[in-house]
Amino acid sequence: MAEKSGGKRPRDLKEALKGKLTKKEMRHLISSFDSVGDIAVIQVPELLEHKAKVIGTAVLLMNKHFRTVCMVTGKHKGKYRVQPVKVIAGKRNKAATYRESGCTFKVDLGKVFFSPRLSTERLRIARLIKPGEVVGAFFAGVGPFPIVFAKNSPMGKAFAIELNPVAFRQMQENIELNKVAGKVEAVKGDVRKVVPKTLAGKCDRVVMPLPEGAESFLGSALLALKEKGGVVHFYRFVEKSDSEKPLREIRAAAEKAGMRWKVLFRKKVRSFSATKEQVVVDFFAKGA
Ligand SMILES: C[S@@+](CC[C@H](N)C(=O)[O-])C[C@H]1O[C@@H](n2cnc3c(N)ncnc32)[C@H](O)[C@@H]1O
Repeated sequence: MAEKSGGKRPRDLKEALKGKLTKKEMRHLISSFDSVGDIAVIQVPELLEHKAKVIGTAVLLMNKHFRTVCMVTGKHKGKYRVQPVKVIAGKRNKAATYRESGCTFKVDLGKVFFSPRLSTERLRIARLIKPGEVVGAFFAGVGPFPIVFAKNSPMGKAFAIELNPVAFRQMQENIELNKVAGKVEAVKGDVRKVVPKTLAGKCDRVVMPLPEGAESFLGSALLALKEKGGVVHFYRFVEKSDSEKPLREIRAAAEKAGMRWKVLFRKKVRSFSATKEQVVVDFFAKGA
């Protein structure tokens, strides 16, 4: 085991926990974790819950930039998609400051949705945005998509729509923190109500990062597009055996809206479970 200073740090969590978990426990250990600023967010299987503190302490020992280790205590819940977490080691703090692509985000873990796992996607889309574009940033959370766009693209303006009042307030703070108030407007409310009221026909591009349920908002995305057409980035969890499902959903929504559409790009974003994966489909749509 490595010493706190001077000694070699363990290469991975398994090495850090050598001698502290039994062989059987080691087999259940989930070694990967999310890093949200100086907070590590880890999954601890039920069988290892009695060892949570030991595991958390090993994470701290392994990575000197972490001050806190939180353990996930439940699934993403309800319409706000918030995942409960509790501190298991280090400083008792769930308020993270996270940095990505030249932006800084305050994130209250356990009160808002946040995932660092879509950082590559945020930058990929930023690089597609053309000068002056108007972007509908649906399901904006604490603002990572629109704020990364504002700092990394020639975007004109993003309308960032969020329903969770805590996430909405934190997005407003993050807009100020990143000095992008001229480019990102936070809008509190339900996409389904906000779009027909204020965004119909205004957007060159819409981003839909709500992988569980975004299909029922495709009509709102199509409504938000300009008459000359625009691009939609549609995120979706799908069964690995049914990867064409998002295309059927887009076809149905476009037919209902009387619009033509074509796929520009699609890919698997990440594996979610043994049978499910997250995919993204970029498509262009225009009134027929
Ligand atoms: C999966 S999270 C994505 C958050 C953020 N874009 C990110 O990547 O961190 C989905 C977000 O959409 C919000 N949301 C869910 N339904 C909504 C709706 N009908 N209108 C507006 N926001 C909604 C949730 O509160 C949550 O913050």
